[in-house]
Amino acid sequence: INIILLGAPGAGKGTQARRLIEERGLVQLSTGDMLREARRSDTDMGRRVSDVMDRGELVTDDIVIELIGEKFAQGGKGFIFDGFPRTLAQADALQQLVATSGTQIDAVIELCVDDQALVSRISGRMTCGTCGEVYHDQTKPPKLQDTCDLCNTADLRRRPDDNPNSLNTRLLEYYKKTSPLLGYYHALGNLHSVDGLAEMDSVASNIRSILDAFQ
Ligand code: AP5
Ligand code: ZN
Repeated sequence: INIILLGAPGAGKGTQARRLIEERGLVQLSTGDMLREARRSDTDMGRRVSDVMDRGELVTDDIVIELIGEKFAQGGKGFIFDGFPRTLAQADALQQLVATSGTQIDAVIELCVDDQALVSRISGRMTCGTCGEVYHDQTKPPKLQDTCDLCNTADLRRRPDDNPNSLNTRLLEYYKKTSPLLGYYHALGNLHSVDGLAEMDSVASNIRSILDAFQ
């Protein structure tokens, strides 16, 4: 099964994707993670996108479509698209991509969270630089300060785009370019909306009950 997690920055896409990988053996395809990885490895593309990302703007469609195409071609039992698609052009490209493998997008799950909550989520977020686990100063603090519960390394980082200015741009980009996808998938009949303001476990169980229909 292939699913898309759709939602504004900080809605909880990455948090829920990590749970689904463990529970369902799906492969997470996060274009944000792929782009950050390209920056860390200092590739040409990584250098080209870094200022755009730090400002909170979207990178161009051709870059992310190519990244997704490469990972999709590696195959898997099913995919969780996290942070992709983000524009109508990306959504069209994804429809074509899944069709080439004889599959389809089974469910699009919208995580609904209001702007005020997004701001506090983003400002408290830390991510483990070693294993990718996501934490929050208030809602999910690590058990030992600065140390990841899962891999025990002291490598918790804050993202350069998690500042008020860039977040403002990220929200504008979301409402302008990404939110039209809600209508797109509603028309295709596979949009499901979940209350993303609920606590992490209950968001996860709501997603689980949607996905149970497919297995
Ligand atoms: P990307 O990495 O995709 O960032 P984003 O969409 O802004 O999403 P986030 O990672 O910020 O949030 P999330 O929804 O995953 O939330 P999380 O689970 O971490 O993109 C970054 C940039 O890359 C873009 O700005 C753009 O430049 C570029 N890019 C990427 N993809 C692109 C594309 N397709 N096209 C063009 N450009 C692209 O949770 C947030 C915090 O809240 C955490 O601290 C977490 O612990 C906490 N939290 C989560 N759930 C809950 C809950 N239920 N209750 C309380 N706290 C919670
Ligand atoms: Zn870790």
